[in-house]
Amino acid sequence: MQISPSVLNADLADLANEVRRVEGSADWIHLDVMDNHFVPNLTFGLPVIERLVRQISLPADCHLMIADPDRWAPQYAEAGAGSVTFHVEAARKPKMVAKDIRKAGARAGVALKPATPLSTIEELIPSIDMILVMTVEPGFGGQAFMTEMLPKVQQARRLADAADVDIWVQVDGGVGPDTIERCAAAGADVFVAGSAVYRADEPALMVELLRDAAENAARP
Ligand code: DX5
Ligand code: ZN
Repeated sequence: MQISPSVLNADLADLANEVRRVEGSADWIHLDVMDNHFVPNLTFGLPVIERLVRQISLPADCHLMIADPDRWAPQYAEAGAGSVTFHVEAARKPKMVAKDIRKAGARAGVALKPATPLSTIEELIPSIDMILVMTVEPGFGGQAFMTEMLPKVQQARRLADAADVDIWVQVDGGVGPDTIERCAAAGADVFVAGSAVYRADEPALMVELLRDAAENAARP
């Protein structure tokens, strides 16, 4: 069970220090790259992440909500991200994107918007290391968790388990103390939490609390 706090609702002008608040407790730091094209919001891109990864010790879990991941995604891996996730809806040749990410030394993740069915990634399974099931419409932090995505998480878990390789199932959007248990019970094993962590008085403690809740809920 891994926790990947999202900095989207943290102080983006003080990124490195915001990441340090969860170092020692989080497993990854989730970095939401938005281009105001694939989603109606704009955050940061490659130049910021290139510099940031050199200043932090947590591995970067980059979630690319951008058009043309075919061109950009491998560069995030080259910049030193530990995991690079692109949206299947945006990719022209998703299999190639995943292959290029891995070749550059990162884990390759593929993300699905709420309306995108898992059938769109079935053929990608041998090429990927993680399935990201969005549990909100991508673009903004602090939205309500979409309970109706839980069957999709279960389906993703089955798809992942049927593969020969170890594929993680990540959930992102509205994940916090009230929702993480249902996600874990449905088969998720990597949890992105933005506002739940960064709006907590003690973000590092919240990370521990979330991981404990997920572990307890997943236990048969
Ligand atoms: C939404 C982003 C999420 C977001 C999650 O498009 O992909 O990573 O930061 O924030 P919360 O946990 O507040 O829903
Ligand atoms: Zn995200």
